[in-house]
Amino acid sequence: MPTEAGQRPHIRVLVVDDDVVDRIACRRAFAASPDIDFSMIEAETGREGLQLAREERPDCILLDYQLPDLDGLEFLTEITDDSGKPAYPVILLTGADSAAVAVTAMKRGAWDYIGKDTERRYLELLPGAIQRMLRERRLDEGKRQAEIALRQSQTQLRQLAAHLESVKEEERKRIAREIHDELGGLLTGIKAHVSVYLRRAARAGTPPDPLLTDAAGLADTALEAVRRVITDLRPSVLDQLGVWAALEWYAGQIEKRSGMQCTCRIDASAAAMELDAQRSTMLFRVVQEALTNVVRHADAGRVTIEAMCSDDVLTVEITDDGRGIADSGADKRESFGIIGMHERTRHFGGKLSITGTPGAGTRVLLRLPLETPHDE
Ligand SMILES: Nc1ncnc2c1ncn2[C@@H]1O[C@H](COP(=O)(O)OP(=O)(O)O)[C@@H](O)[C@H]1O
Ligand SMILES: [Mg+2]
Repeated sequence: MPTEAGQRPHIRVLVVDDDVVDRIACRRAFAASPDIDFSMIEAETGREGLQLAREERPDCILLDYQLPDLDGLEFLTEITDDSGKPAYPVILLTGADSAAVAVTAMKRGAWDYIGKDTERRYLELLPGAIQRMLRERRLDEGKRQAEIALRQSQTQLRQLAAHLESVKEEERKRIAREIHDELGGLLTGIKAHVSVYLRRAARAGTPPDPLLTDAAGLADTALEAVRRVITDLRPSVLDQLGVWAALEWYAGQIEKRSGMQCTCRIDASAAAMELDAQRSTMLFRVVQEALTNVVRHADAGRVTIEAMCSDDVLTVEITDDGRGIADSGADKRESFGIIGMHERTRHFGGKLSITGTPGAGTRVLLRLPLETPHDE
């Protein structure tokens, strides 16, 4: 449709109508329209209309319902494309009393219908109806494009988030290894030197220098701190013994650190599952975040982790007896912990639900189908 400044918009209308008088009347109505420069393509039969639609690609079609070869519904079916909608916007011209036909046509994708009256007053409505239809179509198309763009950008963000997670995980492994090899090695060396000195002093019967005894104690504390930092970065048990052992170990850590009772029940059906490294990491990180949240926010006395597998769906449930997460907590925009749990799960085709009962506790339920490959 032309839009050059100062020019009237140009609309190409295909009129499919076997009544020549109606077509002439249409032409006159269009010519009289002050705002729009209509050009009209005419077809006398349905088949001719279909052919002209393909060749001329009009902006819209005015379709008489009763044609010698096809009826309006058949015509609509013929121009319906892969999206299930007519490839052109269509206004159906019906007999004045054919409301039922019009409704069916609208269901099949006609945009609008106008009843033909014997005095041909409907012609006055045509230019306005066509303009309205094209305007609405443009808005619809804009909305559709925006939705497509939004979906694309959501997918890209998801892929980026998943990529960042795996990069982060690798980076953690690397840092843990470096701290272990470099710092751990140095501290072990210092500790060994001091210990040799202390043993020699003991053998010679000289009292050891208290500063060096202190140094041995400090080296032990430093080694302990290094070990803690390393396991916080990436528990080696996860890589060495698998996710189930890692969860049991982590439950023990939580119990020790928080004083809260933390039980881990891995059903035999789950323990028998060999999860790949990526799913194992995902599961561990989701449970880790859930438990961190219980410690931080729940004010709970007890938390239970239960895992089981049935019908190729792995279920992991983390239940606490704390204050119960509020709906607003789970929906908060800045709830990055929870958003992360959802994203990690979704990336592997799983589902996560978090429900709270005020005063009774929170339940985090992760369901992971094991058949589906995850989206890379
Ligand atoms: N187990 C829980 N019990 C009660 N409230 C919770 C629990 N887990 C999460 N919440 C609430 O949900 C919010 C969002 O959690 P999260 O996304 O992990 O963010 P953060 O832990 O950084 O606050 C928390 O701030 C807290 O209010
Ligand atoms: Mg959190």
